[in-house]
Amino acid sequence: MTGTRTQVAIVGAGPAGLMLSHLLSRSGIDSVVVDIRTREEIATTSRAGILEAGSVRLLVDSGVSDRVVAEGDRHDGVVLRFDGENHRIDFRDLVGESVWLYPQTEVFIDLAARRTADGGDVRYGVADTAVDITGDRPVVTFADADGRAVRVEADLLVGADGSRSICRRALPDGVRTEWFREYPFAWFGFLTDAPQSHPELIYARSEHGFALVSQRTPTMQRMYFQCSPTERVQAWDDDRIWAEMRKRVNGNGFELREGPIGARTVLPFRSFVTAPMRHGRLLLAGDAAHTVPPTGAKGLNLALADVRVLHEVITEFFARGREDVLDTYGDRALDRVWKAQHFSYWMTTMLHSAEGVSAFDRERQRAELSLVTGSRHGAAYLAEAYTGWA
Ligand code: PHB
Repeated sequence: MTGTRTQVAIVGAGPAGLMLSHLLSRSGIDSVVVDIRTREEIATTSRAGILEAGSVRLLVDSGVSDRVVAEGDRHDGVVLRFDGENHRIDFRDLVGESVWLYPQTEVFIDLAARRTADGGDVRYGVADTAVDITGDRPVVTFADADGRAVRVEADLLVGADGSRSICRRALPDGVRTEWFREYPFAWFGFLTDAPQSHPELIYARSEHGFALVSQRTPTMQRMYFQCSPTERVQAWDDDRIWAEMRKRVNGNGFELREGPIGARTVLPFRSFVTAPMRHGRLLLAGDAAHTVPPTGAKGLNLALADVRVLHEVITEFFARGREDVLDTYGDRALDRVWKAQHFSYWMTTMLHSAEGVSAFDRERQRAELSLVTGSRHGAAYLAEAYTGWA
């Protein structure tokens, strides 16, 4: 067994874990990051693609990379499509902000490269990760990529290990409160080799269910459609997928540009929050503490917002040597978490159709869309939330 000491042990080398490790190193605090996935696996798993302006600023200002501004696409608005018509929400005009289309996989690639260049200690592809928070100092044990047993002892442990977090489960029973909401649907996501159908995202509500038209590159697009949570990707060939997309999006002179379909996945849908986000010397960040349905594009942005607060709290903890500063983390992070929970839930219920919904609710949903797209105040509400609260 090899033993290592560090100030902060971080479980999870996704964007949250790596960004925290990067920010801490800039403040002179050392960390060890571990992940059961290989670097290649993380870099090739399709995730969402929208960054709030604040997330972009964090990447650029902290010196991760400016590839996001050089190669990402600035989007000054989104389209809500219903009853066969496009209604554009103009972010710039309404709130003076934009978002950037820059896939999460690229954020990871930039962060991983920056950590490597700065000599950061990131162990990908480890196995049998276990955490122990019962002693004075948290301990993480694992088998590294070469099969050697490693024990990392730290002053603090951060769980940035996603929705199936092992760190969250280390909190003793009775300490945690959890809030859940399940939805009776999921998203079927796919990549297609096709030109752009539209320069901005289209969130489409139709009687056949929701669909989202997003982009990746000039020759590759990302799209989703609402499906059953038990849907199997094998049941959907290219023709069937395009037929479903056409029903939900095409019409009144608008037609999707189609092409061969590549990777496809069914994305589960749920809203989840756990508190406290801190217990003793363990702190949770990102999906380990909360998940949102993808409709509001908030998952990654929320994780980066957590990390920004966490970096300040941890820096203060080491500077002052006081445990009580750790307690401020949850209060500071959870306010934004719940706003994002509400927004993601609201976008989801406004745009999806659920079986057995009453005629009243269908009309109410249409009125809601009409208010959000037909009134400057309604549109500004969406624009502010989508681009990220100050
Ligand atoms: C994506 O481009 O993958 C994407 C964009 C917006 C969302 C979800 C996913 O709300």
